[in-house]
Amino acid sequence: MAKTKKVILDCDPGHDDAIGILLGFASQDLNYLYKLDILGITIVAGNQTLEKTVNNALKIVEYANIDTKIYPGYAQPLIRDLEIAPEVHGETGLDGPEFPGISGSPEKKHAVSFMIDTIRESQDKVTVITTGPMTNLAAAMIGAPDIIDNIEEIVFMGGSAYTGNWTPAAEFNILVDPEAVQFIMKSDLKKKMVGLEVTRKAMFYPKDINNLKSDRSSVARMAGELLEYFVQFHINEKGMPGCPLHDPLAVASIINPDILKTEPYSVNIECGGQYTTGRTVVDFDGDSFDTPVTDVALDVDVKAFKEMIFEALKSYR
Ligand code: RIB
Ligand code: CA
Repeated sequence: MAKTKKVILDCDPGHDDAIGILLGFASQDLNYLYKLDILGITIVAGNQTLEKTVNNALKIVEYANIDTKIYPGYAQPLIRDLEIAPEVHGETGLDGPEFPGISGSPEKKHAVSFMIDTIRESQDKVTVITTGPMTNLAAAMIGAPDIIDNIEEIVFMGGSAYTGNWTPAAEFNILVDPEAVQFIMKSDLKKKMVGLEVTRKAMFYPKDINNLKSDRSSVARMAGELLEYFVQFHINEKGMPGCPLHDPLAVASIINPDILKTEPYSVNIECGGQYTTGRTVVDFDGDSFDTPVTDVALDVDVKAFKEMIFEALKSYR
């Protein structure tokens, strides 16, 4: 019998964020350990500007007929100027498929207010999944420290124990707002880092994308078109054989925790290095940092993950 987890999904759609949203809501129809009761989607600037990431979230939930609310959050990092990724996600942040015009609107309530009120009022502890820069969550925890007691776990797509993807040292989500992440690392909350060591293994190849594009589900076909655009950057610019499904892996790791193998290590964020800003510095020896540990994902059951993605996307009518 599947159990239910209360979840807030914070993201910067973004092609892979979009797949993560679709997976999260499809979990209600899947038979894994957990079904996600997603209380709302909060949006942050990252892959594109806030206006575009908010619009992209609306495009996805409307296309898939998902009944949820979209809360706009921070348009920039806590301290630094915003850095976006049009070379990866395009000018809209969700280039590729043609979406119908947006009919709905985002909520007037700010994402941070939604996070604080929802976590405070929830009868059950809330799991917060972040798949973009962690500005909104850090602001909520700074503004209302009392909510920390009602957060079950923070699961974040970000970082890497070894090499980055935006600089040699840093992964994009962490680099955009390293101060936000460092603040969160210092909390003794249960945290899970779903970084590049595992997401780079969670690869979708052209054959997988064609499988989605030929499915009878229009949502699966749309997801295939999204990934067809997303894979081009990785093949043409990175020389990779496919595209890593970064964000969906963070979501999948809650639906079926056995998908990832993690180990607890102290992790600190470099916020001042000329070449290393945004690096997630993992204390593998366990004798350098007194920062509370983070569960660092170091291996992934790729077959189980890809089966879940196909099942979830094809479950949409
Ligand atoms: O480095 C990959 C991460 O940065 C993903 O979350 C992607 O959507 C971008 O936000
Ligand atoms: Ca993202």
